[in-house]
Amino acid sequence: MLPLYPYGLRRTLVRELIPAQLWSFEQLQGLLYVAVPIRMTVVRLRRGLMLYAPLPVTAELREALRQLEAAYGPVRTIVLPTASGLEHKLPAPALARAFPEAELWVTPGQWSFPLRLPLSWLGFPAGRTRVLFEQGLPHADELLWTALGPLNLGLGTFMEAACLHRASGSLLVTDALVAIDPQPPEIFDADPTPLLFHARDRGDQPLEDSPELRRRGWRRLVIFASYLRPEPLTVLGWPEVLRRAFAPGLRNPRSHFGLYPFHWHENWEEAFQALVPEAVPRVQVAPVLERLVFPRARDALLAWIRSLAQLPEIRWLVPAHYAAPVACSAELLNQLADELAARSWAPDEGNWATLARIDRGLLKLGLVPSRPSG
Ligand SMILES: [Fe+2]
Repeated sequence: MLPLYPYGLRRTLVRELIPAQLWSFEQLQGLLYVAVPIRMTVVRLRRGLMLYAPLPVTAELREALRQLEAAYGPVRTIVLPTASGLEHKLPAPALARAFPEAELWVTPGQWSFPLRLPLSWLGFPAGRTRVLFEQGLPHADELLWTALGPLNLGLGTFMEAACLHRASGSLLVTDALVAIDPQPPEIFDADPTPLLFHARDRGDQPLEDSPELRRRGWRRLVIFASYLRPEPLTVLGWPEVLRRAFAPGLRNPRSHFGLYPFHWHENWEEAFQALVPEAVPRVQVAPVLERLVFPRARDALLAWIRSLAQLPEIRWLVPAHYAAPVACSAELLNQLADELAARSWAPDEGNWATLARIDRGLLKLGLVPSRPSG
């Protein structure tokens, strides 16, 4: 079993993003010491509520939704807006069961690896599951839907459905665009353990708490999650890890028993500065997406970003990870597309080396195509 964080003890942070129109439900999700925030967005529509990008159902999440339903009407629609993002797909069937009256809409090209199973076998309710774009679009009078993909990635299909909520000017996306907070997000206030864990330099150091340590832990966690193994990080061998493990005071699950397999080099913060150079979250393509999903499909991604820029009155971007809402506009999206077109794409060097090695390996094995079709 992989050591999953937070071990079934999921907290849900609820924030109102746009008064009486849009809410963010966030949980921490992750594995192997990396806990990253994941978001479900709740949209108030004329006929009730829509849940975009499912989260695991907990009593706390259910209760928060019940309060919104009491004020704004029932959950009518649940949208799984990605074909490949497992972290959004796995919670969808249970969320659909929690709202038996709601319609479940999914992107085309849903796939299960290694076997291709029918959706109903994966727990999606057959009678009320519908496919976006192929079988219509939910609330098309209030929402504008824009598809990225389907792109054949060899191992599966990539597809993402962006949704503009016209009333608030909020553009909901899933994984393709993000904006990373320079400071630790609020969701870690309840339990900063993942940040304090990564703020250390050695396994035998105690978990101490201060604003500076939280910030350091957040920045390391971000570059770890973004590049898998950024250049200034050495992953230690087991003998070295075990030598420093089980130090007094650290023999507990919260400290992972002092098992800390990382050595950060002195210049580690430069990797974060390169990724998040400004004091406010900046709209960007996540490195994992750029190097592992779109390394040979930049044109498709740019065309999608430019088509989003055509949408009327965009004011906010609300991705399913990291910061939200982020100020957004047609000009900003066009500028992003111009920047991505002009700079080198899916590089191999420096912080990108590990992602590049994975991609080259998959390419060599013939598991991903040299020219993705879509
Ligand atoms: Fe995701």
